[in-house]
Amino acid sequence: QVFFKSIEDTAPDSPIKRHTKISVIGAGNVGMAIAQTILTQDLADELVLVDVNADKLRGEMLDLQHAAAFLPRTKIVADVDYNVTLGSDLCIVTAGARQIPGETRLNLLHRNVALFQLMIPPLAKYSPDTILLIVSNPVDILTYVAWKLSGFPSNRIIGSGTNLDSSRFRFLIADHLDVNAQDVQAYIVGEHGDSSVALWSSISVGGVPVLSFLKKQQIAYEKETLENIHKEVVNSAYEVISLKGYTSWAIGYSVASLAWTLLRDQRRIHPVSVLARGFYGIECGDVFLSLPTQLGRGGVIGVTNVHMNEEETERLQSSAKTISELVSQLDL
Ligand code: NAD
Ligand code: LAC
Repeated sequence: QVFFKSIEDTAPDSPIKRHTKISVIGAGNVGMAIAQTILTQDLADELVLVDVNADKLRGEMLDLQHAAAFLPRTKIVADVDYNVTLGSDLCIVTAGARQIPGETRLNLLHRNVALFQLMIPPLAKYSPDTILLIVSNPVDILTYVAWKLSGFPSNRIIGSGTNLDSSRFRFLIADHLDVNAQDVQAYIVGEHGDSSVALWSSISVGGVPVLSFLKKQQIAYEKETLENIHKEVVNSAYEVISLKGYTSWAIGYSVASLAWTLLRDQRRIHPVSVLARGFYGIECGDVFLSLPTQLGRGGVIGVTNVHMNEEETERLQSSAKTISELVSQLDL
């Protein structure tokens, strides 16, 4: 209190603003893109970074702290020890191996499961009430692994899933129709990866259902055109990785939007990876994959019942089978 004299009659127990604490595990390309996007949102009072690489971690922490004059006030701390995460409201896990050009996400599984066995138990111990938001790949299977290793109820375990793929999808449709991506409502569901499913039958632009509109106007649309847009979504990450080595900005915004919905109890619907057993006829055991999900301060509120035609439902169930087969081979 060097500059300000305290007001003497302030009651010692006067209520103060809630302290919101977010921890980001993994200070690599993805972790740092998420951290910097969150800082611009005035969402966290405290942002924690954890990584095994102590020098990189301190360098990233200082670099962000040096932006203090341009950002909403947030305490930024970093440590290799998980005790720094104590009492986090949200833990975002991005640490782990990433794909080299041409490699699939599923190929990272065994390396990243081994890391999760080191990371998830201390996170759960220091923040037993936190929401775990998993980003490391393959994200759907690692979300399942985090669920098993944390012992948390499934409503507090979420994978970033196809929130990113759906943004890519909305961008491509918007580009095709020359409209704003924020006016395009469109979901990619299923695996965040090669077996993802585009829900064409429920796409709308400004509230107008696109496929029935085109049909009514007798505007021919080729199934091949639609398939090509979905193929471009699936190929997006491969293309970016082959060009710049990794993806970061879009996943940064995608995860920051999830953090905002969760911690500000926005109750928005996001396609994210959740325990999917029992929804849309998925009956192949405990499997996490993306479904349009309502999120709020407690985590998952519920799964939305969006329209899917028979082909889309079959593709979703087949995506679930792909993930479930890999999950059944895990020895946790
Ligand atoms: P990166 O190599 O830049 O960063 C990974 C970081 O993890 C490194 O800083 C490394 O030191 C750290 N790390 C390794 N072991 C650790 C441990 N035991 N504890 C703490 N930190 C540890 O990789 P990246 O580009 O940031 O990608 C990270 C992960 O995110 C990859 O698995 C990638 O595939 C995934 N990813 C997911 C999505 C998605 O949409 N879900 C999008 C992009 C990337
Ligand atoms: C993505 C990562 C690689 O950008 O999963 O889709």
